[in-house]
Amino acid sequence: MQVGSFRIGVPDTGMLLYFDHAATTPLDPRVAAAVAEAERDAWGNAASLHEAGRRAAAVVERARILVAQALHGSPEGVVFTSGGTEANNLALKGTLLLRPTGHLVTCAIEHPSVLEPARWLVSRGYGLTVLPVDGEGFVDPAAVEAAIRPDTVLVSIQTANNEIGTVQDLPSIGRICRDRGVCFHADACQSLTKVPIDVEACGLDLVTVNGHKMHGPKGVGALWVRPGVPLEPILHGGGQEAGLRGGTTNTPAIAGLAMAIEAASPEDVPRMEALRDRILDAVLAWPGTRLNGPRHRRLPNHVSVVFPGVRAPDLVRALSDRGVAVSAGSACHAARDIPSAVLSAIGRTPEESASTVRITVSRPTTSREVDALIPVLEACVRRLRRAGT
Ligand SMILES: Cc1ncc(COP(=O)(O)O)c(C=O)c1O
Repeated sequence: MQVGSFRIGVPDTGMLLYFDHAATTPLDPRVAAAVAEAERDAWGNAASLHEAGRRAAAVVERARILVAQALHGSPEGVVFTSGGTEANNLALKGTLLLRPTGHLVTCAIEHPSVLEPARWLVSRGYGLTVLPVDGEGFVDPAAVEAAIRPDTVLVSIQTANNEIGTVQDLPSIGRICRDRGVCFHADACQSLTKVPIDVEACGLDLVTVNGHKMHGPKGVGALWVRPGVPLEPILHGGGQEAGLRGGTTNTPAIAGLAMAIEAASPEDVPRMEALRDRILDAVLAWPGTRLNGPRHRRLPNHVSVVFPGVRAPDLVRALSDRGVAVSAGSACHAARDIPSAVLSAIGRTPEESASTVRITVSRPTTSREVDALIPVLEACVRRLRRAGT
């Protein structure tokens, strides 16, 4: 490769109506400015004792306080990571690997970054119960209680689902975990800044967050750990993050994560809900369309629907040709032709799963964009249905 030939070089193909915010979000300009400022003024190694290091460390410690405040937890509990996947791995492996044996409870619609480490732990001899969910994706707290055994170490239930938008009843599950003396972890990647979370009210011991679902940078996240809860590190190195996560601290990304939290406002939520409901009301009026997940107690920005008779990848491509971005199921499954485990878990048939499209809004989404989406979506659904895709 020729030196100096690297370019971003992505062609600007014009207007993009972006309705795939559950996959990832664009950087908020305030986040971009915070990252750039940290790159310029706080580039030192946060572990260094000199002035450059102290500047970086000060930024990281301020960010730690902001992340903790968003969860109503203590700042010393925040462990910065490379994102949600690493934080989920640390929560599960970090609690189980401290013991030679133990049992973990989770549910069938968790993100793969929870289910895969859970399965890996099974391969190492640990016990696992994967709870079913009901037709709207809810975990029954009584089923959590029934699944807890004398050797149960951890219960891991997400705050909200990325594919169907279901928001779980964490306070009820947390009360059970507290009573039974079991650690409680929640993956809050999809809900932070959209659904309030309070580690005390929810009885949480561990919480996963990340930046890129809330207009922060990709490749940064955190695990909040209740002080006193022991964890085994999974990334060994220079002892950063109180020995729980080796690796030179990514100060600019951490600054971006904190700014993403600061830039969010509670007023964004009713706006998103109104846009979500306009999309939902429109599509549910079309013949045969069915909602995945509940109508209420769902993420404020999330629509997931089955368009019977339409192959979701064809619809995604047809919309993309018209400058509209949506997702078939979840971004993780979009490229693979296998039914989504989440949709199967709520009882959707493989055909319904193959006809499921996810439409997600966020802070930058405007009412005019929704006005533009609905007729294009309706025309594409009608055409593909006639063509019998
Ligand atoms: C619910 C949930 N958990 C975890 C992740 C993984 O986070 P990250 O992409 O930061 O590794 C995602 C995003 O894909 C998600 O939606």
